[in-house]
Amino acid sequence: MRAISVVSMILLVAIDVLVGQGSSYSPVQCIESEKQALLSFKQSLVVNQYLYNPLSSWTSNSSQGDCCSWEGIGCDNKTNHVIVIDLVKWGLGSDISSSLLELKDLEHLNLQGNNFIRIPNFIGSLTRLTYLNLETNPLSGAIPSQLGNLTSLSFLALGGTILHPNTILTVTDFRWISRLSSLQKLRLVFVNFTTTSEWFQTIKTIPSLEELYLYRCQLPEVDTSSLSHDMNLSNSLKSIIMSSNTIHPSSIPLLFNISSNLVDLDLGDNQIRGPLPNSFGNMTSLENIKLQDNQIEGEIPKSFGSLCNLRSLYLSNNNLSGTLDNLIGSQVSCSDQNQLGGPVFPALEELYLNDNLLEGPLPNSLRWFPNLVVLDLHNNLLTGPLPDLSPFSSLERLFASNNKLDGSLPESIGQFHNLTAFDVSSNSFSGVVSETHLMNLSNLEQLDLSFNSLKLNLSSNWGPPFQLVTLKLASCTTGPQFPNWLQTQSQLVSLDISNSNISGVIPYWFSTVSSTLEYLNLSFNHLSGMDPNFSLRSDYISFYVVDMSYNQFRGALPPSFSSAVELYLSNNMFTGFKRFLCTPKEKVIVLVLDLSDNLLSGTMPDCWLQWRGLVILNLENNNLSGIIPSSLGSLDLQTLRLRNNSLSGNLPSSLNGSSELLLLDVGHNSLNGEIPSWIGESRLAYTLKLLSLKSNDFYGSIPSNLCHLNSIQILDLSLNNLTGVIPSCINNFTSMARETDGADHETITTTYYYLRTQGTYENDAMVMWKGLEYKYDKILGLLRLIDLSSNRLTGQIPAELANLVELVQVNLSRNHLSGLIPEKIGQLRQLQSLDLSNNQLSNKIPVGLAQISSLAYLDLSNNKLWGEIPTSTQLQTFNASEYAGNLGLCGPPLTSTCPEDKTFSGPSNSSGGNESEWLDMSWFNIGIGVGFVVGFWGVCGTLALKTSWREAYFRFLNNLAW
Ligand SMILES: *[C@@H]1O[C@H](CO)[C@@H](O)[C@H](O)[C@H]1NC(C)=O
Ligand SMILES: *[C@@H]1O[C@H](CO)[C@@H](O)[C@H](O)[C@H]1NC(C)=O
Ligand SMILES: *[C@@H]1O[C@H](CO)[C@@H](O)[C@H](O)[C@H]1NC(C)=O
Ligand SMILES: *[C@@H]1O[C@H](CO)[C@@H](O)[C@H](O)[C@H]1NC(C)=O
Repeated sequence: MRAISVVSMILLVAIDVLVGQGSSYSPVQCIESEKQALLSFKQSLVVNQYLYNPLSSWTSNSSQGDCCSWEGIGCDNKTNHVIVIDLVKWGLGSDISSSLLELKDLEHLNLQGNNFIRIPNFIGSLTRLTYLNLETNPLSGAIPSQLGNLTSLSFLALGGTILHPNTILTVTDFRWISRLSSLQKLRLVFVNFTTTSEWFQTIKTIPSLEELYLYRCQLPEVDTSSLSHDMNLSNSLKSIIMSSNTIHPSSIPLLFNISSNLVDLDLGDNQIRGPLPNSFGNMTSLENIKLQDNQIEGEIPKSFGSLCNLRSLYLSNNNLSGTLDNLIGSQVSCSDQNQLGGPVFPALEELYLNDNLLEGPLPNSLRWFPNLVVLDLHNNLLTGPLPDLSPFSSLERLFASNNKLDGSLPESIGQFHNLTAFDVSSNSFSGVVSETHLMNLSNLEQLDLSFNSLKLNLSSNWGPPFQLVTLKLASCTTGPQFPNWLQTQSQLVSLDISNSNISGVIPYWFSTVSSTLEYLNLSFNHLSGMDPNFSLRSDYISFYVVDMSYNQFRGALPPSFSSAVELYLSNNMFTGFKRFLCTPKEKVIVLVLDLSDNLLSGTMPDCWLQWRGLVILNLENNNLSGIIPSSLGSLDLQTLRLRNNSLSGNLPSSLNGSSELLLLDVGHNSLNGEIPSWIGESRLAYTLKLLSLKSNDFYGSIPSNLCHLNSIQILDLSLNNLTGVIPSCINNFTSMARETDGADHETITTTYYYLRTQGTYENDAMVMWKGLEYKYDKILGLLRLIDLSSNRLTGQIPAELANLVELVQVNLSRNHLSGLIPEKIGQLRQLQSLDLSNNQLSNKIPVGLAQISSLAYLDLSNNKLWGEIPTSTQLQTFNASEYAGNLGLCGPPLTSTCPEDKTFSGPSNSSGGNESEWLDMSWFNIGIGVGFVVGFWGVCGTLALKTSWREAYFRFLNNLAW
């Protein structure tokens, strides 16, 4: 009786009995004409050949000839008429045959989840129907008004499916629905009410409607003029579930005032803007309100305080401001007064206020919700301490991360026997967390205290009452001892004890803890080693991230570490990795291997063939020598960083087989030879975004093939022995030439998959600014840079350079370039830094240079330039030294005035780039203490993608370096 079991109506309990009898021993014999009608209906259906076909029981042969016993059919046990057709998710299509008209007694027609494409008009003639469900079919066309004849219907569901989001039903006249005088539940999905301005009035006048469900519908503006003489509230409507629709904003207030008996109201994800009306207070029967994922502004309306029956309130992800005080209108008292001397909302269990702009302290009146189970306040601007939580004996989940809460954590937390999740990360809590705080939390599964100033004081023989799944204590002081109590935790999946001041070695027992983990972060501690038998999880069944960077691990890397998917081991003192790389392994699933900033030395091992999955390889800042092994080229790397080693030889030509490489940095080595022309001829031409050959011994000319690097954003060939001219084809660097109007990615991000889990890696890179190198990560993707400085390039600067309008930095200094500065250089409106010093450039400075208002650094010294320095707010702000050593430049900021110039009015008193116009720079300073090596952008969070950020950033660097 598989088909029937899907049906949800109460009346079907009875029908189930009916059908059961039909199929087994009942004497019910179906009526011949109805049987023929069903066979004809079957004939018209298109079935999915690859699925089990339940219609196979529908045959006319004598043993199965009784249609009342067919799957999905039910008959009345007295009259023998077919009264039920229930074919849910049978893969049937595509038209509904009119032979069903023969089934005059049909009461229940459920074709949900099939492939029917239209609603036939004749369904309106099946007037006995009480239940009609055509939902989740790719229906299109108009909903026939003939459905208005189905006056016995109590359940009606029509609509499309997310699988065909563009196949939608339309309604042009909805008045027929009010004739469905028995209708209790109405569900419409993917319906376009086109211009049906009376949809709202009509719904209100369906006399017995209790439940309205509209999803992904287009609801136009309601004609309110016709509303005035019809202000009666519906008395039957109890539930309005209308999420993810497109509602005309003027209709929203009407919905808040639709019924006097409303219990459930869900208007989530409807682009509701502006403040909430106060009329909520009149809907005192409301129990569940969902208004999440809108753009609601203003304060929480005071009238919420009169909703004494409220059980759940979802206001997440809006723009609500103000304090939490309004939540309980002080003037109101719900009937259930108690000894606390105030109103009590005994019903409220779930309160979701996360992702808003709420501020101020957590009010004491929160205690008026004694039965709260979930309290979610994360991502707001709340201040002050966490109040005494002892009235909340039912609390199971408390989320308050990312606020500005401070003070110490109340010890009363330890009494919450029911607590399963407690997350107060990224606040300003301070003080000590003791065993008392955690004493009775025997159901706790998720604990996050990260990024506060908390110190954990737990004795080494403490036995916690809980088995955690997630434990995050980043930047809490947990050490100096490795937390011994962790060995009692046998179900941990995610563990972060980074930056916790832990020293010593990882104890042997940690292998047991590690054997269940999918995320392990021990970075930024003082760990100096691990027990020789320590191993990582090695079952390869999950995406396993291991971060042990920034510690003092030394010696050789343990071969067992190859069972992680992402392995971050940078900034340690590992000396050997040959055994780790070259020991034959059953399975290597490492996709990210970061061994940068260690003490690796010797020739680079050539064992990469068993590391086929590798996507990111970072070995920079070690002491590796010898050649770059050609087996590296057989991997599908997206990022290869070998910067700052002692590698020699040329780039292995096997790299031209890399089909994914987007970042190749081999700067600061001793590589030599000519720049291989295959770089521009292979797939790399499409993928490479960053190429750095900086500070090696490459010689010869820049191959014109290099111009094929369509995607290149950062090209650094500086500090080599390159000769010849700069190829004029550089205007083929399309990603430097294209106007991007903010569509760029801020980051250069790599994505990869293991077992359907997606990993991402944000690349960073070292970039020069005024002679110092800085680490870029969060805005690396915005940078466009060409650095050819300190070579022996000759000839002119190609005029085509001026077409690369997105360039942010250009450094051609210290070459033998001659001729003019390109006349149209003023087109480079994004340019922040231009260094052409120490060449033999001659003639005048092009006037266009004065038009680049973003220019924050300019050096034209030591050339053969002459004439007046063009006047602008920008060019006069640079030091005189940046124009020095030329043939005859004159005018401000130089002291030499231009000979024939009588009209010159003196230096502008604007200091250029009005400082006050720049963005508030204070946030730039947040991370400086951590050091650039850490990547301070990570600390600052995501940047909004605005040109002004770019400018501000460079301005910041400008201030920093000087
Ligand atoms: C017929 O079905 C009804 C329910 O619809 C049930 O109450 C009644 O007992 C059934 N009668 C027989 C004879 O099975
Ligand atoms: C059904 O409704 C249509 C229009 O909505 C009407 O023209 C027709 O007469 C009705 N049929 C019956 C049998 O009531
Ligand atoms: C809904 O119908 C209106 C009027 O016909 C039309 O302009 C609009 O594009 C339709 N919306 C969708 C999503 O099809
Ligand atoms: C609430 O109901 C009262 C009395 O029924 C009425 O006067 C008032 O206007 C209503 N408030 C709102 C906002 O609808």
